[in-house]
Amino acid sequence: MAAIGIGILGSGKGSNCRAILERIRDGTLCAEARVVISDVFNAGILRHAQEFGVPNAYLTPGKFRTKLEPEAEIALVQTLRDAAVELVVLAGFMRVLKAPTLDAFSHRIINIHPSLLPKFPGLEAWKQALAAGETVSGCTVHYVDAGVDSGEIISQREVPILPNDTPETLHARIQIAERELYPKTIAQFCE
Ligand code: GRF
Repeated sequence: MAAIGIGILGSGKGSNCRAILERIRDGTLCAEARVVISDVFNAGILRHAQEFGVPNAYLTPGKFRTKLEPEAEIALVQTLRDAAVELVVLAGFMRVLKAPTLDAFSHRIINIHPSLLPKFPGLEAWKQALAAGETVSGCTVHYVDAGVDSGEIISQREVPILPNDTPETLHARIQIAERELYPKTIAQFCE
């Protein structure tokens, strides 16, 4: 089985990225992390990449808050291409990708979201699930399209919502499920 070349994008602490890098290192995920990119200069995700010896880069995002400036997005595509990335893995990347990336990596960009999509797209999905009185939530890996958390669903994992859950306890339990589901789902792309 040939290892698939992945590029991981994130803006935060990078616990999903770390789980993926650990599964690659222990040989249970047949992938090669070719680059890790963040739009946040001191993001934890870049430190995980450094610890695992994975090439990593800070991408200056430009003046917008929820998307990349067009020049930055062109630079992103170039960096991913230069690193021979075959699958783009979003792991807590807080900006919406636009045509340059979506066209360059058509059906080859995936994201993990902390709800059972199509329920609760958008920010703080675990809070939305609690507020709606749900008894089950979970996480979803999906293809990325031009919408927000709207692309075709690839895999899901259910997580129970317990009577005493707070947003923090629920989010933590969902993140444990994410760290199992994401590497397993990436492995499907190697088959
Ligand atoms: C995850 O909970 C994921 O669902 C969401 O962003 C979070 C990233 O967390 N898209 P981390 O940076 O991987 O710890």
